Amino acid sequence: MKRTHKCGEIRAKEVDQAVILNGWVHRRRDHGGLIFIDLRDRSGLVQIVFSSKNVDLHIQASQLRIEYVIAVKGKVVRRSPETINKEMPTGEIEITGDALEILNAAKTPPIEVADARTEPDEMVRLKYRYIDLRKDKMRENLILRHKVTKSMADYLDNDGFLEIETPFLTKSTPEGARDYLVPSRVNPGKFYALPQSPQLFKQILMIAGLEKYFQVVRCFRDEDLRADRQPEFTQLDIELSFVEETDVIGLVESMMKHSLDAIEKDIDQYRGKTIPKISLPFPRLTWEEAMSRFGSDKPDTRFGLELVDLTDLMKNVEFKVFRDAPMVKGINVKGGEKFSRTDLDKLEEQAKALGAKGMAWIAISASGLKSPIIKFFKPEEINAIVERMRGETGDVLIFAADKPKVVHQVLGALRLELGKKLDLIDKNSFHFLWVTDFPLFEYSENEKRWVSNHHPFTAPHGSWDDIEERFLKDPASLKAQAYDFILNGTEIGGGSIRIHRPDIQAKIFKLLSLSEQETKSRFGFFLEALEYGAPPHGGIALGMDRLVMLLAGMDSIRDVIAFPKTQAALCPLSGAPDEVSPGQLKELNIRSIS
Ligand code: AMO
Ligand code: AMP
Repeated sequence: MKRTHKCGEIRAKEVDQAVILNGWVHRRRDHGGLIFIDLRDRSGLVQIVFSSKNVDLHIQASQLRIEYVIAVKGKVVRRSPETINKEMPTGEIEITGDALEILNAAKTPPIEVADARTEPDEMVRLKYRYIDLRKDKMRENLILRHKVTKSMADYLDNDGFLEIETPFLTKSTPEGARDYLVPSRVNPGKFYALPQSPQLFKQILMIAGLEKYFQVVRCFRDEDLRADRQPEFTQLDIELSFVEETDVIGLVESMMKHSLDAIEKDIDQYRGKTIPKISLPFPRLTWEEAMSRFGSDKPDTRFGLELVDLTDLMKNVEFKVFRDAPMVKGINVKGGEKFSRTDLDKLEEQAKALGAKGMAWIAISASGLKSPIIKFFKPEEINAIVERMRGETGDVLIFAADKPKVVHQVLGALRLELGKKLDLIDKNSFHFLWVTDFPLFEYSENEKRWVSNHHPFTAPHGSWDDIEERFLKDPASLKAQAYDFILNGTEIGGGSIRIHRPDIQAKIFKLLSLSEQETKSRFGFFLEALEYGAPPHGGIALGMDRLVMLLAGMDSIRDVIAFPKTQAALCPLSGAPDEVSPGQLKELNIRSIS
């Protein structure tokens, strides 16, 4: 019985037609005389009714259990008005079951597909992923992912980009994580590294004159996993020749708009409401401005609670902690007066856990100001602070005094926490923005040397020729032609204009204290390529898992990946990673020491 129709697509206009449907038993209700089956395929559900008039068929139907795979032949009939189900797109009709074939039985599933409310344990969801993926939400997530990726690839194709594959078995790429290594059997003792990104290959494609490249590509990074990090994840990787920063940013903005237009209906349906349209261009903040206003290089701008600089007001105050600190900033927690003393103490504990020495506060209540620090200030000093922070009755002002790095880290994190606590975040809006002008280098306390903030191929702003002099004078002041793409406080992409001159690239490696020998062995092939006519070029990579997670309104990228790994980098479905046989190890010249 080969199917003639899809379950979820049958409507009243098909009434009286004979149909054959194939699918899974989603729900069954046995009302004695009548057996109702909700039959499911990818397109949705339709109700089948088996009546006891046909005794053999009724007996056969009574054997059906959930997740059995069946073929049904029947007739489309209109439901009586009182039995119409408005919740189901096919709710106006049902199918009278006239013939039934069980294509396959199913064991009682550990996940009930029809139950949208209960969330089974994640290990169970991942072990029985083929059942978990039968759920509406998961299927919709995968469909959305397909549409987003396709719309972007179509946009790029239309704009003259070529999708070109780059190797997985390759050399280490410096994106800052550990490599996944693959031993080479034919080259004993040697290893390939799986790419952390196609960075060097896409730059080489520019040197090769391909001009416009993209690739939907898996990247592998052995790092500590979080809700928005997977050991293998997907980038939409892009590189172009003869471009400046604004060209790359403009391209991504148009592509994003094109994609959002293509999936608009799906998103609205998902959220059950119309999502406000985005408008171009997206806001651009320099890294300094983002840090200064939001205490973060990936600010969530869906709500206010911005940081206010008060350093200048503290120069002569009696309160030593504020007077002597390199920086004092505050947040006006609008309506925070409702916080109890315990809430504020908890917040202070959080601040301390983030590295603060304390968290002073002033509550502005109708009966006056309440604060543990007010005694250290003259009335006009307090007035100036309250005025600068636009404090009003009902607000609580919170403060951090420390080095800028600590102040931003603490208030940036508290801001996010308060935004959630006070329910200020509109989950149904998309706030895209760019953060630009990142520092080129940052000092690594671990390695006791300056390291690249993005990666070492990122071009500096300003003149390149005196890069060494500029570095010696003030390494922290050098800015990069690098940009991050942010959506609702999550980094969904990052890129840069690259260094295309071999002499400058070599100098940067030197400034990063990489020895000539190390540079040569790690990146020699790339430095050599730069010597054969490299065009100016730049690009970006979007983290597709994160982007789709946010568009779908999920909290974890695992919900938009068909077969993700656990926080411990395990695949409960296949059991990977696994031990291998001694024979395989021997062949690879590897001896296990554990
Ligand atoms: P970057 O390292 O910033 O840049 O990566 C680009 C984007 O990929 C996503 N991402 C991840 N998503 C899920 N799991 C992970 N472990 C993970 N790591 C990164 C993020 C990030 O913004 N070669 C450069 C790009 C370039 O310069 O063109 C690169 O890989 O959303
Ligand atoms: P103390 O004088 O140490 O008791 O601090 C008085 C108040 O100032 C307390 O509420 C502390 O939490 C707060 N405080 C102390 N150090 C800092 C700091 N570096 N930044 C902000 N508030 C602080």
